[in-house]
Amino acid sequence: MNNILIIGASGSIGSALLNKYQNLKSNNITAISRSRLKDNTAVVEIIYDFNSEILPDLPTDKKFDLIIFATGHLHNEAYKPEKSIRDLNAEALAYSYRINCIIPALLIKALSQSFKDHTKIIFLSAKVGSISDNHLGGWYAYRMSKTALNMMIKNLAIELKRKYKNIIVCGLHPGTVASRLSSPFTGSVQHEIFTPSQSTDYLVEVIENLTIDHSGKIYDYHSNEISP
Ligand SMILES: NC(=O)c1ccc[n+]([C@@H]2O[C@H](COP(=O)([O-])OP(=O)(O)OC[C@H]3O[C@@H](n4cnc5c(N)ncnc54)[C@H](OP(=O)(O)O)[C@@H]3O)[C@@H](O)[C@H]2O)c1
Repeated sequence: MNNILIIGASGSIGSALLNKYQNLKSNNITAISRSRLKDNTAVVEIIYDFNSEILPDLPTDKKFDLIIFATGHLHNEAYKPEKSIRDLNAEALAYSYRINCIIPALLIKALSQSFKDHTKIIFLSAKVGSISDNHLGGWYAYRMSKTALNMMIKNLAIELKRKYKNIIVCGLHPGTVASRLSSPFTGSVQHEIFTPSQSTDYLVEVIENLTIDHSGKIYDYHSNEISP
């Protein structure tokens, strides 16, 4: 049996990952989400909003084989992705950093007693966090916070390797996926848009095939490395 923790289990990709891992084998799943999951009694649920000042109580008696962060923020009623530097706003920048990088980093700190030698720690990142791949500009807060997340992933991989020889820390880009996060922006997309289920089929395979040599890096849904 594998112990799996999914953070953001109510999201489009997060809930597809939850379904997939529930159906795959006898996994024991703990889910963290902002609101209660509907019709899912087979998981241990922890309710946590990343805006909360206090971190949630996390299980202390479990070592996780797999930890996946499927949370993320691009837009909400208050903040829209910036088209120009004229749109920059301190609160919007800070909010993106909080949801996309700061709270994931603090949750990983809080979970540090729950690692074991073969734990895989996965963060859903985004190709737009790549500096070298940025040809369009815009989306300052989202891009910057995902780039910061990618640096955290690299740091964490280096640090954890000193203690656990086989722990793997990676960022994954799920592709363009039909979701609440992407829906306002997919109208003009020319390439394929995955359903959450399609994307997670790919992601589960990528995760399955990760080795220690991949740790600290960012990969897409076909295991292609995304340059920093
Ligand atoms: N969709 C794409 O095309 C795409 C492309 C590249 C990367 N990604 C990345 O993939 C990940 C998942 O995105 P998605 O497409 O599945 O989007 P989504 O359906 O909007 O899911 C986002 C998740 O983040 C959670 N979240 C947002 N703000 C939160 C907060 N304050 N506290 C707690 N949870 C919060 C949401 O909780 P609620 O369910 O409660 O709202 C939801 O679980 C993100 O990291 C995103 O950047 C997505």
